[in-house]
Amino acid sequence: MTAKVALVTGGGSGIGRAISHRLAADGYAVAVLDLNAAAAKTVVEEILDKGHTAAVFGDVDVSDRSQVDTAVEKVRESLGAPAVLVNNAGITGFKKFGHITDEVWARTLAINLPGPFYACQVVYRA
Ligand SMILES: NC(=O)c1ccc[n+]([C@@H]2O[C@H](COP(=O)([O-])OP(=O)(O)OC[C@H]3O[C@@H](n4cnc5c(N)ncnc54)[C@H](O)[C@@H]3O)[C@@H](O)[C@H]2O)c1
Repeated sequence: MTAKVALVTGGGSGIGRAISHRLAADGYAVAVLDLNAAAAKTVVEEILDKGHTAAVFGDVDVSDRSQVDTAVEKVRESLGAPAVLVNNAGITGFKKFGHITDEVWARTLAINLPGPFYACQVVYRA
């Protein structure tokens, strides 16, 4: 049997990195998707060094549907259809409410809303 595939967005650092490690240790083949491909590659190398399975698929901006489409197709071809999706990629401003600018608000919505929607829909269809 081949391993079940888990796809982690924003898996190149922080919480997403920890989730990627945990899923790999639990036996999943982990597809690490991140805007920062170099960071994702480092996480994949860490996972491979532990004898688990993971792969990176270049720079992927989850707020761009075509990039998500292309990445998930590559995941399907190389690891198999994802059984698990972790929508972790996103940004936070962590500013006091009265200090959030319109620019930061717009940027946050432009990534944090469409990203999970695109990933859910593309992975669901896959
Ligand atoms: N750390 C916290 O206390 C906290 C609190 C609330 C929410 N969150 C959310 O949890 C998630 C993880 O937080 P973290 O602290 O590990 O953040 P982090 O900044 O360390 O990691 C986020 C990762 O997502 C990637 N990313 C950002 N935008 C992306 C995009 N458009 N497409 C693909 N990848 C993208 C980044 O390159 C980075 O590797 C984020 O969505 C964050 O907003 C975190």
